[in-house]
Amino acid sequence: MRILTSLGLLPAPVHLGFAASSRVKYNFTSDWRLFVGDAKAVQASSFDDNDWKPITTPHAWNEDEAFLVDIANLSTGIAWYRKNFKLPSSATGKKVFLEFEGIRHSGEFYLNGNWIGRIAARIDNSWNYHEVSTGSTYQWSDKNLYANYGGINKNVYLHVADRLYQTLPLYSHLGTTGVYVYPSKIDDARTTSITAESQVWNEYNSSKLLGYRVEVSNASSKVIKSFNGAHYTLQPNETRIIAASSVLLDLNFWGWGWGWGYGYL
Ligand SMILES: *[C@@H]1O[C@H](CO)[C@@H](O)[C@H](O)[C@H]1NC(C)=O
Ligand SMILES: *[C@@H]1O[C@H](CO)[C@@H](O)[C@H](O)[C@H]1NC(C)=O
Ligand SMILES: *[C@@H]1O[C@H](CO)[C@@H](O)[C@H](O)[C@H]1NC(C)=O
Ligand SMILES: *[C@@H]1O[C@H](CO)[C@@H](O)[C@H](O)[C@H]1NC(C)=O
Ligand SMILES: *[C@@H]1O[C@H](CO)[C@@H](O)[C@H](O)[C@H]1NC(C)=O
Repeated sequence: MRILTSLGLLPAPVHLGFAASSRVKYNFTSDWRLFVGDAKAVQASSFDDNDWKPITTPHAWNEDEAFLVDIANLSTGIAWYRKNFKLPSSATGKKVFLEFEGIRHSGEFYLNGNWIGRIAARIDNSWNYHEVSTGSTYQWSDKNLYANYGGINKNVYLHVADRLYQTLPLYSHLGTTGVYVYPSKIDDARTTSITAESQVWNEYNSSKLLGYRVEVSNASSKVIKSFNGAHYTLQPNETRIIAASSVLLDLNFWGWGWGWGYGYL
């Protein structure tokens, strides 16, 4: 089952239908270039990375050592990753997020001033890495969590959203809570009430009237329920958590022989 929540910017007066505000999530895993080692001035937009190794993330720069050396002895040190890209003109004036699901261990990221062009990331998986501003090392048992496959070893995404947008659930970095979907009143008749909360942020300089719509799809991507929240007016730079609820019937709950997955988009 998939749950899609979307915002619509409503013209005043309301009742004119629902034009979902645009939001695009790009897969940003392809066309990276890798250099293993440290180097000077390679974050500059003008740097020519043509002779760096072309790779696709997730990519640990020491991954070829897997099962050849003991995991305690995987190579450590610095590697640089770069990616050239150009945003479509439709992204002009929009809110843009670059999401790295994870790196090992620590990194510094460089981007040219206009959000169009190149990213360079200097990733360091040394055991004795010291965080730059505090000079402190890791406070957890870093040697035992998982093998030290260094670099950008998780997916990368680029999000382009309207300036009135549903936030991402990246609380530790952005302080925002994203979308939260939960069931209540689950009963044996394959029925539950479902609530989809969404934090929204109006980064326009004027107040905006918005609508909120939730679509629930089953495992074959067929929309089995859609429902709307209220209309809201958000002041300039206001964030708010909005919510909509509905009862869903004839669900397939997880159980023996039924591995139903639940997720939201
Ligand atoms: C990104 O796109 C590539 C190429 O189509 C695909 O193999 C990969 O699974 C995608 N990754 C994600 C996280 O969507
Ligand atoms: C890992 O490296 C250390 C130091 O070089 C060496 O003593 C040890 O035998 C290595 N461990 C394995 C399993 O190869
Ligand atoms: C809001 O106003 C500020 C200051 O005038 C300006 O820099 C910014 O671009 C404006 N934002 C939008 C989305 O219009
Ligand atoms: C999704 O719903 C459609 C229409 O009700 C149904 O034909 C299809 O079998 C359902 N798929 C699943 C996986 O339940
Ligand atoms: C908007 O609000 C955020 C906190 O929610 C604050 O950090 C930021 O400075 C505000 N921006 C403006 C232009 O007031």
